Amino acid sequence: MTLRSVVLGCGSYLPARTVTNAELAVKVDTTDEWIVQRTGIRERHIAADGELTSDLATQAAKAALTHAGIDAQSIDLIVLATSTPDQTFPASAVSVQTNLGITHGAAFDLQAVCSGFVYAMATADSLLRAGTFKRALVIGAETFSRILDWEDRTTCVLFGDGAGAVVLEAQELPGTREDRGVLVSCLRSDGRHKSKLYVDGGPSSTGTVGKLRMEGRAVFKHAVAMVTDVIRDAFKATGYTAQDLNWFVPHQANKRIIDDSAEKLGIAPEKVVITVDLHGNTSAASIPLALDTAVRDGRIKRGDLVMLEAMGGGFTWGSVLVRW
Ligand code: ACO
Repeated sequence: MTLRSVVLGCGSYLPARTVTNAELAVKVDTTDEWIVQRTGIRERHIAADGELTSDLATQAAKAALTHAGIDAQSIDLIVLATSTPDQTFPASAVSVQTNLGITHGAAFDLQAVCSGFVYAMATADSLLRAGTFKRALVIGAETFSRILDWEDRTTCVLFGDGAGAVVLEAQELPGTREDRGVLVSCLRSDGRHKSKLYVDGGPSSTGTVGKLRMEGRAVFKHAVAMVTDVIRDAFKATGYTAQDLNWFVPHQANKRIIDDSAEKLGIAPEKVVITVDLHGNTSAASIPLALDTAVRDGRIKRGDLVMLEAMGGGFTWGSVLVRW
C-alpha cells in the first residue's frame, strides 16, 4: 500500500466582466480575426476594481469544496499558485485561508508563472504523500490584467483573470499505476530563458510592480518542444502512452501551441480540453479552469487518465499525470 493524492473535487471562478476581441480592437491596433487566428482567444474576463487575486481564489476554493462535499475545516494545506499576489507579502494563500475560516494547518504561495498549477500539484502531492498533511486545496489564481501594458497590442490581447482549484486527499491505495490520484509529476526550469517572458519590475529591483514583457515568437518556438519532452518523461515513468490518455488538459495559452503539442504526441484532437477561447491565458489558473469545465460538462469522469502540462516564464515547464 502507498499514499496517493486523490482528487476529491474541483471548482473555478471567472470575474463577471468579459472583454471581447472587438472591444480590445477599439483600444489598440488589432482585430478579432488576428487574435482568433494567432491564438484562438475570443474573450477574456477582467477582475473588478478592488477584486483581488485572493478573492478569485476564494471563490474557486469554495466551489471546489462544495463539489468535493467536504467542509473547509478538514483542509490542512493550501498551496496557491500565482504571479499576481494581492501584496508582495504576506502570501495571498493566507487571505484565502482566513476567508475560508481556517486557522490550522499551512498556507503558502508558489510562483512558477504559467507552470504554477503544475508545480503546485507536484508540491502538494509530495507533502500529502509524505504524510505531513491530509487534505489540500491546490489553487491557481491570477489577475494578470493588473500587470499588462494595455497599450502593447503584442501582449494585452493574450491574457485574462480567473481562478481554479482542486481538493486533494491523501489515501492509502495499492500503489499500482491503476490507482486513482497523482501518478507522476515532472518539473523543469531553465533560467537562461528568463528574459524572454518577464515583468519589468519587482520589490528588489525597481520597487514597483512592473508590466509583463514577452518575446512571443521566442516563447512559441520553445513551447512545443519543452511540453512534449516533459509529457514523454511522464509516459516513461508510468509505462502509459498517448493512446492510454482519456484527456489532455494543457495550459491554455494559445490554441496553436496546444494543437501542435497534441499532434506531436499523437493525442487525438477529441481528447484535448480547450477553453482558451473563453478566458485567454490566465497563467496559473488556466489548467484548473479547463479541468473544472470538462468535469462539470461530464467529459472527465472518475477513473479517467488525465495529462496536465504547462510552460511559462523562467522558462518553467512540467507535467502531471493523474487518474481522476
Ligand atoms: N494585433 C494585430 N497585429 C499584431 C498584434 C495584435 N494584437 N500583435 C502583434 N501583431 C503584429 C506584429 O507587430 C507583427 O507585425 P509585423 O510583421 O508588421 O512586424 C505581426 O503581427 C506578427 O507578429 P509575431 O509576433 O511574429 O506574431 P506570431 O505569429 O508569432 O503571434 C503570438 C504572436 C500570438 C504572441 C505568438 O508568438 C505566441 O502565441 N507566442 C507564445 C506566447 C505564449 O504562449 N505566451 C504565454 C506563455 S505562458 C506564461 O508564462 C505567461
